[in-house]
Amino acid sequence: MFAIYAAHSSMDDPLSALRIGDQPEPIIPKGFVRVRVTHASLNRHDLFTLRGITAHAEPIKFPMILGNDGAGTLDDGTPIVIYPVLGGEFWRGDETCDPDWHIFSEKVAGTFADYVVMPARNAIPLPPGISAADASVLGTAWLTAYRALFTKSNLRPGQRLLVQGASGGMSTALIQLGRAAGFEVWATSRNAKGKALAMKLGAHQVFDANEPLPQKVDAVVDSIGAASLTHSIVSTVRGGTVVITGVTTGMNVNIALLPVLSGQVNLRGSIMGTRDDMENMIHFLVHQGLKPEVGQILPMEQAASAFRNMWNGETHGKTLFTR
Ligand SMILES: NC(=O)c1ccc[n+]([C@@H]2O[C@H](COP(=O)([O-])OP(=O)(O)OC[C@H]3O[C@@H](n4cnc5c(N)ncnc54)[C@H](OP(=O)(O)O)[C@@H]3O)[C@@H](O)[C@H]2O)c1
Repeated sequence: MFAIYAAHSSMDDPLSALRIGDQPEPIIPKGFVRVRVTHASLNRHDLFTLRGITAHAEPIKFPMILGNDGAGTLDDGTPIVIYPVLGGEFWRGDETCDPDWHIFSEKVAGTFADYVVMPARNAIPLPPGISAADASVLGTAWLTAYRALFTKSNLRPGQRLLVQGASGGMSTALIQLGRAAGFEVWATSRNAKGKALAMKLGAHQVFDANEPLPQKVDAVVDSIGAASLTHSIVSTVRGGTVVITGVTTGMNVNIALLPVLSGQVNLRGSIMGTRDDMENMIHFLVHQGLKPEVGQILPMEQAASAFRNMWNGETHGKTLFTR
C-alpha cells in the first residue's frame, strides 16, 4: 500500500530518511479495526521519528510508517477520527498515565498510509458538526493543548496565559482554545508573521521570543523547550504554573532554580490527553464554532515539501495531508 515512512533515522538530516512509496498492508489483530485513511496531519513528532528520538526505552524499529493523527472510514464505511494514544490491553483509567502508553509511529505503524490498524476504541465515530478534514488535525497537538490548558495549567477564565511560539500546530491550538475559554492570551513569536497569525487567531498581545513582559502571567504553556524555558519561569506570577509540552529547541536545559523555588512556580509536564479529553475537545470546538487553523493542505504524495518547511521552522498552524 501507499505510505510515507522513515527508512532509518538521521539525527542531523532527518529528511534524508524520509520515503514516499510502498509498505506492506497491515494485518488486523483480533479486537482491532482497520481504518482507510482519508486525512492525516503532520506533527513535529514525525521529524522526531525521522531523527530516531523517542520517549520510550526501546528504539524505534525501521522502516516505520509516519503519522500520529488522522481520520477516515472503517471497513463498514463508518466515518471516524483517530484517538492517538495506545497502551496496555488491561490498563483502565487515564491513558496518559499508562506505563505502556505510546502513539502511532513509535511502536506501531502510523497514519500516513492507505490503511492503519488500531484497537476499536481508538477509532472514535466522527461526531456531527465537524468535518473529517478538521477532525484529522486534532489528535496530537490540539489534544495536548486542550489538556495542558484545562487539566494542567490551573487557569481560570479571566486569567492571563502566555503561549510560547505562535506559528506551530500546538501554539495555534493553544491560542484558539485559550481565547475561546476566556483567558487573556499573550503569545511570543520569532517573527512578524507569527505575531500577525497569533493576533488573527485571538491573542490579546504578542511579543518577540524571550522579550521581557510588561506584567507576569498566571500560566505559560511552553512547547519550545530549551530556548524558552527560562523566559517562561521568570514570566510567571508567584505560585503560577509552567506547563511543559514540548522540546522543539532541545530537551537539556540549564536553568536557574532560585526563581523556581522562590517564586513557587509549578513546573508541570504534560503528554497528550485522554480519550475523554478528545471527545470533550471536539464537543467544545463544535459548540464554540472553532475551526482549527490549517495553513496547508496537500496530497500525501507531495508531503516532502511540508516536512521540509517544518524542519526549516516555517509552519503555519496544522498541515493537512489528503489521500
Ligand atoms: N507533550 C505532548 O504530548 C506533545 C504533543 C504534540 C507536540 N508536542 C511537542 O510540542 C512541540 C511543538 O509541536 P508542533 O507539532 O506544534 O510543532 P510545529 O508546528 O513545528 O511548531 C513549532 C513551534 O515552535 C516555535 N519555535 C520557537 N523556536 C523555534 C525553532 N528554533 N524552530 C522551530 N520552531 C520554533 C514556533 O513558533 P514561532 O515560529 O511563532 O516562533 C512554533 O510555534 C514539539 O516539540 C512537539 O514534539 C508534544
